[in-house]
Amino acid sequence: MNYEMLTLDAPVTGVALLTINRPKALNALSPQVLGELLSALASVNESRDVRCLLITGAGAKAFVAGADIAAMSSMSPGEAREFALKGHACMRMLELMPFPVIALVNGYALGGGCELALACDWIIASDNAVFGQPEVNLGICPGFGGTQRLSRLVGKALALDLICTGRQIKAEEALRIGLVNRVVAPDRLLQEGLDAANAIAAKAPLAVKMSKHLVQRGQDLDLANANAMEADVFGFLCATDDRREGMAAFLEKRPANFTSK
Ligand code: CAA
Repeated sequence: MNYEMLTLDAPVTGVALLTINRPKALNALSPQVLGELLSALASVNESRDVRCLLITGAGAKAFVAGADIAAMSSMSPGEAREFALKGHACMRMLELMPFPVIALVNGYALGGGCELALACDWIIASDNAVFGQPEVNLGICPGFGGTQRLSRLVGKALALDLICTGRQIKAEEALRIGLVNRVVAPDRLLQEGLDAANAIAAKAPLAVKMSKHLVQRGQDLDLANANAMEADVFGFLCATDDRREGMAAFLEKRPANFTSK
């Protein structure tokens, strides 16, 4: 499928790279961008070959500078609610992808852009990245899940600090508060993402998929039920060819050849 507002590439085997490509508007998420994002995520989700998805923004200045303010300025309450629900659908799809999704944040990740990064499994940022939820400047609140995902990741007090003041933080502070996993030079960002994706792609695919499933789903469960689910999945994985291959390879001191079975 052809997209106007994003590109979808396969830079190396097993890795998909999705770039929000609207640099003149700092990659702002318009209804069209969200629509294309939903359809691109559906196609990546269906691909049997993908082991990791990387998401970034086109241009040196921004990952995504937020939901499109010009588009939102004329929305009725009903349209705004629909827009928020569409954003939520995108973010949920990312969380439920059957492989890890890594945000490569280059520059501004504000509002909906910060929320997009938060919906990814983890974030690698360039040292010029800027994060924030500045919606209160516009008379609105975060609308793509920021009130929930930010507080779950960095804690209630820090989330409220960022959301209620609208203050923007640099990569270094984002690293300190646990919002991002790693900070690298801008010209290293894509390679860092590819290195992580290649490391994931070399592991047992079902084990990676189920590990993500356990962490994601477990967050909505109490500890006892989440651990019960983990024990079930552990048992299931012990029935796979990849478990036999992985353990045999270790004992025979050779690299494993996983088949995703
Ligand atoms: N929506 C629409 N257009 C945007 C945009 C956005 N979120 N962010 C930037 N742009 C556009 C600007 O209007 C400008 O377009 P023109 O050249 O046609 O005038 C272009 O991108 C470049 O932006 P600036 O000239 O403003 O660039 P700058 O370097 O001076 O400032 C910035 C960069 C600090 C990121 C600034 O653009 C900015 O503050 N953007 C808005 C950030 C924001 O408030 N985001 C939250 C949106 S609300 C939201 O996301 C709700 C939600 O949760 C769903």
